[in-house]
Amino acid sequence: MAEFKTVSPDAPAGEKLLNWVDNRFPLTKLYKEHLSEYYAPKNFNFWYFFGSLALLVLLIQIVTGIFLVMN
Ligand code: HEM
Repeated sequence: MAEFKTVSPDAPAGEKLLNWVDNRFPLTKLYKEHLSEYYAPKNFNFWYFFGSLALLVLLIQIVTGIFLVMN
């Protein structure tokens, strides 16, 4: 199990909150391992944008659909 970490009492509220979460769930570790420090393959090209664009348009459809339903 990860060790319990403490921050200085003068630390900003956001840092304290993140530390509180990190002591219960490995949020920072998860973010680093899967996003910020994850090595992307070198052969990515322009076409690889389309997966995240498909996800974006799907999310826009869901959100705008909810607003259409309300009118
Ligand atoms: C709403 C529909 C879809 C969404 C949101 C979606 C999303 C994604 C995302 C985010 C990726 C990773 C980034 C990228 O490679 O662009 C991906 C990869 C991939 N998707 Fe999709 N996708 C969808 C539909 C499809 C369909 C219909 C197929 C095939 C018939 C497909 C086949 C693949 C494959 C093979 C990869 C891996 C590409 C690689 O790493 O070489 N996806 N998808």
